[in-house]
Amino acid sequence: MAELTIRKMEVDDIKDVMKVDEVSFSKPWTEDIFHLEIEKNDQAHYFIMKLENKIIGYVGMWVVIDDAQITNIAVMPEFRGHKFGEKLFGFACQQAIHMGVKRLSLEVRASNIVAQKMYRKFGLVPGGVRKNYYTDNREDAIVMWVNL
Ligand SMILES: CC(C)(COP(=O)(O)OP(=O)(O)OC[C@H]1O[C@@H](n2cnc3c(N)ncnc32)[C@H](O)[C@@H]1OP(=O)(O)O)[C@@H](O)C(=O)NCCC(=O)NCCS
Repeated sequence: MAELTIRKMEVDDIKDVMKVDEVSFSKPWTEDIFHLEIEKNDQAHYFIMKLENKIIGYVGMWVVIDDAQITNIAVMPEFRGHKFGEKLFGFACQQAIHMGVKRLSLEVRASNIVAQKMYRKFGLVPGGVRKNYYTDNREDAIVMWVNL
């Protein structure tokens, strides 16, 4: 069985994480953003998922006191549909609980039914809509949240 690991993201992971980002989002983050998040933002917590030696996914969140916001989560397309996303999100929730987080929230594109279904499995429910939130196509964001 191939070894699956999840660990804290490091600066050396950025190039590989960007590959995941580029095939997952219409507006992938720049290298500078990742450096800022990993090196300068004390509130940011990023984790990568590795299958053997390959980074196949990552998740990030900001934690402010007892509130967490998921910033990004993605799995390489060829590895989707095998519960890797669920494992990654579950790991992030566990980490948040360890940090004393009471409430976790995120924004998701209205059209992103796959992600919304996954979040619902963790008890997240829609709590509001940010109209025209995404600048590339003015799509609405659904805010989803859960009490941990
Ligand atoms: C969202 C994402 C991380 C899910 O990862 P994944 O590894 O494919 O998901 P999993 O295999 O763990 O599935 C978890 C749940 O998601 C939902 N899901 C996954 N694939 C689905 C599909 N093709 N259709 C409908 N629901 C789906 C299901 O609820 C599934 O649980 P189930 O298998 O018990 O029904 C992945 O699709 C991805 O990287 N998408 C692009 C980036 C993105 O949209 N990120 C979210 C930003 S808010």
